Amino acid sequence: MTGPTVKEALEAALEAARWAPSVHNTQPWTFSVSGEEIALRADADRRLRVGDASGRELLISCGAALFTMRTSLRGHGYEPVVRVLPDPDRPSLLATVRPGAPSPPDEDARLLGEQIELRRTHRAGFTGLPVPDRLIERLIMAAVDEGARLTPVRAPGAVDVLAALTRAAQAVQAGDRRFSLEVIRWARPPGSRRRDGVPADAYPRRAAPTDPHFPQRDYSWRHDWGGEGGTATSIGVPALLTTARDGREEWIAAGQALQHVLLRAAAQGVSAAFHTQALEMDLLREFLRRELCSGEHPQMIMRLGVTFEDKTAVRRPLSDLVE
Ligand SMILES: Cc1cc2nc3c(=O)[nH]c(=O)nc-3n(C[C@H](O)[C@H](O)[C@H](O)COP(=O)(O)O)c2cc1C
Repeated sequence: MTGPTVKEALEAALEAARWAPSVHNTQPWTFSVSGEEIALRADADRRLRVGDASGRELLISCGAALFTMRTSLRGHGYEPVVRVLPDPDRPSLLATVRPGAPSPPDEDARLLGEQIELRRTHRAGFTGLPVPDRLIERLIMAAVDEGARLTPVRAPGAVDVLAALTRAAQAVQAGDRRFSLEVIRWARPPGSRRRDGVPADAYPRRAAPTDPHFPQRDYSWRHDWGGEGGTATSIGVPALLTTARDGREEWIAAGQALQHVLLRAAAQGVSAAFHTQALEMDLLREFLRRELCSGEHPQMIMRLGVTFEDKTAVRRPLSDLVE
């Protein structure tokens, strides 16, 4: 039996890339195919002008899409050949990826590949079911594989600091008209047919607070939007994703590490909730870097845990993304 052709593998990789996580589900990417090569570009029109002036979160999102394509190609029997930021004269060209030598998909590629469309962001407390230490060790290695570092935050004092900074950032952003308008712009009312932004059933109407409390983004903003659920109260395992340096290459690496961690966690029934508000405020991000990240640059703040709540995910059709 022969495996998928190169053409089929390329199509599958593009289809898979749509499902990567992105800040506010902005899906800030475009793809073009030339011969056997996919070019991944940043869609600067989808950058968050207020929350993400430097484009850091945009590049993390695109890095997640890149890892997704690599995983899909492996799952379809090809070793991916990737070049990150291949042309300094074309900064919006973030990466090229093409199917290299055929290699039969291993169990690992299959496991991660299965999660690409199933993985969902969680936005509430977790059940009290433990995240196995062995899995955390494996997630730490996954981040290292992509050039980043994942550090579980276990000391209660450090967890308190992380939660307090998240509350401070959320409060400041909620009181800042420009931040609020940007979140509202990417929040979708119930029944909306748009295929980007955060849909109203992707978060609970009322989430029971965790202890310490890690506030969610306010996507419903004065509306009674949101789905059922949100009664679980465990914080799970807070974790920081960091990089040694802080430039475009590292942001793409952080995105690849993020998606590697998320898919591997999802394969073991573990989900992630994100609280990246504090990283959108320079002073708080710098404070976190010094106090909790041993001088490394924080790229993502997350909690890992177990939930059985179903969430909706929306994505734009491939025809909107391929140039
Ligand atoms: C860089 C980045 C930052 C994010 N920050 C948050 C956040 O602060 N709060 C949140 O609820 N989700 C956050 N997310 C998750 C996105 O909202 C989510 O990936 C997107 O809505 C798509 O939904 P899905 O992950 O369920 O497919 C972030 C994702 C990325 C890539």
